[in-house]
Amino acid sequence: MSQQLETDDYDVDHDAEFPGVIEAIRTRRSGHNFDAEAEISDETLEALVEDAALAPSSYNLQPWEFVAVQDGERLDEVVELAYGQEHIKDAGTAILVVGHSEAETADRVFGEWEEAGRMDEQAAEETKATAVGMYDDERMGRDYGIRNASLAAENLMLSAHARGLKATPMIGFDAEGLSEFLELPDDKIPVMLVAVGESGGEEPERLPRRGVEEVLHRESY
Ligand SMILES: Cc1cc2nc3c(=O)[nH]c(=O)nc-3n(C[C@H](O)[C@H](O)[C@H](O)COP(=O)(O)O)c2cc1C
Repeated sequence: MSQQLETDDYDVDHDAEFPGVIEAIRTRRSGHNFDAEAEISDETLEALVEDAALAPSSYNLQPWEFVAVQDGERLDEVVELAYGQEHIKDAGTAILVVGHSEAETADRVFGEWEEAGRMDEQAAEETKATAVGMYDDERMGRDYGIRNASLAAENLMLSAHARGLKATPMIGFDAEGLSEFLELPDDKIPVMLVAVGESGGEEPERLPRRGVEEVLHRESY
């Protein structure tokens, strides 16, 4: 019988160095019930993106961007492109987390590794060539963009939760249509749409999670 995480198992491990983080991870929910009258401030939006951009990334390339939509009419379009998911409109803010499919920040970032004395010039050049090479293959470049930007999306959602907001990750949208609507360049990947806003009340109880015994493999799969 697999062990399942029940909703009343969200007690905080007070021995943890950062118990608040564990509490946030354990209580985060994807919101579907937003307060349609409330809006988040510019300051909050910027704080969320600042936290998202602190996510780890391969070689610190930070291959992500964020497109925030808050205009009512534009949100209506986003809802339509997301197959009628009205909670996006109620949330009041939709943030598309965008991934890079090219190592476009490599020159700058490897310059920073070198400037900080973490690599000499030769090592920086060689490592940059390796990092850029990883994006040579189209499929791999896409994978890198999605992996890195997904971590930024999770940071953004946890930051929203920690600030008393709700956030919902979404891939239920017409990727091509939304990319066109938001004028994404061809080399950018629409990784995750995150609806963010004030809570409109309770969410249905969380469905069970697969337990550790079921998902943890030791030494090999
Ligand atoms: C990759 C991904 C895509 C998702 N797409 C949608 C979506 O299109 N619309 C939506 O309302 N929720 C979406 N969700 C939210 C999931 O339904 C939700 O995370 C899951 O049911 C678990 O609930 P919880 O996040 O409240 O724990 C998505 C989540 C992920 C990770």
